[in-house]
Amino acid sequence: MTFRELFKYTAAGRVLMIPYRFGRIALPYALRQLGLMARWAFTSKEYYNHSYHLTELNRRYLASFVSVVSGHSLAEIEKYLRELETDEALRSALVERTRASRDRHNCDEEPRFGRRLGWYALVRATKPRIVVETGVDRGLGTVAIAAALRRNTDEGAPGLVFATDIVPECGHLITADCKPCCRILLGDSVQSLQQFKEPVDLFLHDSDHRPEYEWAEFLAIEPRLHAGSLVLSDNSQQSPKLLEFAQRTGRSFLFFADVPQAHWWQGDGIGVAFLPGVRTCFQEGRRK
Ligand SMILES: C[S@@+](CC[C@H](N)C(=O)[O-])C[C@H]1O[C@@H](n2cnc3c(N)ncnc32)[C@H](O)[C@@H]1O
Repeated sequence: MTFRELFKYTAAGRVLMIPYRFGRIALPYALRQLGLMARWAFTSKEYYNHSYHLTELNRRYLASFVSVVSGHSLAEIEKYLRELETDEALRSALVERTRASRDRHNCDEEPRFGRRLGWYALVRATKPRIVVETGVDRGLGTVAIAAALRRNTDEGAPGLVFATDIVPECGHLITADCKPCCRILLGDSVQSLQQFKEPVDLFLHDSDHRPEYEWAEFLAIEPRLHAGSLVLSDNSQQSPKLLEFAQRTGRSFLFFADVPQAHWWQGDGIGVAFLPGVRTCFQEGRRK
């Protein structure tokens, strides 16, 4: 019997392989994670709502995901991703706002949109009149959505984002340029949604991530949705509630999983409930 056969085909070999499997195969992954954690602890100031860039491959998959969900071409979606990534005026305004904020000791200056690039591209492609986002926090997502609405407005397809949060100081990143496209609804978001009276083209859950709370938000906004409304969740990596809501409302469900670039955090993602095979544009014919 050769060594290879001993290790591969015998019970003794299976036991002898344990130190090798642990030390040479599994442990390097843990050490890489530890290295990323140590670097993050010293170089980042964030301790929640982690922000990160996506890997290049993951970003390409995000473009394809948004293309499938919106029914718009991959080339068009790629153009929108680049539009946000290369918006130097917005980037420097965000850096300035972070520097001037009381939160500067727990926020990183560099805006890292990650999956919010996908929110931006989806809003650019589908031209919603009304977006509702629950959970503002610093406002990185709100500003990405509002920046897309601002460009849509400039092109003749106006839109507003209504963003809810329970913390009055939320949204320090929302720039002066984006404020005209943005309304903050302060208070418990389920209550805000219950009082909301406008038809909603695009809804995004990103507030209290307990599954029962996420579900309560979906039920609260359901009367304001129409057949083509897009429903997104920032919680689908850990909760099946949007999948269940998609089934309840006759929509299909897809999930895009973030792969963070050089970060120890596993990443979040985008859950979406939508009608497949439909090219969604909420304001067709209104573009300049
Ligand atoms: C994950 S953060 C939002 C992240 C943000 N959308 C972004 O893109 O960075 C969650 C936010 O939800 C808010 N929140 C928690 N419970 C809430 C509630 N019951 N009603 C409204 N907002 C709530 C928190 O104050 C926090 O700012």
